Amino acid sequence: MKRHLFALFFFAGVSSPTAISAAPTFKKEVGAVFKAKCTKCHGLLLKQKGLSLRNLKSALKGGESGAVIIPGKPDESLLLKQFALPKTDPKRMPPITEKAQLTAAEKKLIEEWIRAGAK
Ligand code: HEC
Repeated sequence: MKRHLFALFFFAGVSSPTAISAAPTFKKEVGAVFKAKCTKCHGLLLKQKGLSLRNLKSALKGGESGAVIIPGKPDESLLLKQFALPKTDPKRMPPITEKAQLTAAEKKLIEEWIRAGAK
């Protein structure tokens, strides 16, 4: 009887909601941000610097500089670094001339997505 109870608690612990991570994914959240703010220049028609952010595969492939997203390593991901460049830098993304800038929440979302493995 005692052993039975132990098993019950064990399984309750494993399936508790806190054990399930809610990492952002390309399909759920990140793709929509890229579509709204990036694919105009990094998509099907225009691929600036060879980079397309249309789908997960092309995003992970990167551009002329090679991979711009390093899964698990936001600090080494060129894509994220370019968000933080000074407004006058032509490499800052999106270019400052664009109306559709990234919000702080969107930058954080993309950072979390890369940290969680960019899936
Ligand atoms: C108005 C057009 C435009 C928009 C919108 C835009 N980009 Fe760019 N992007 C460019 C241009 C032009 C370059 C090349 C800049 C340079 O190196 O001088 C570039 C380069 C890049 C590169 C470097 C690729 C490489 O291989 O070197 C990354 C990464 C990038 N953009 C990410 C983004 C992301 C993410 C967004 C959306 C948040 C975005 N861009 C929105 C025009 C755009």
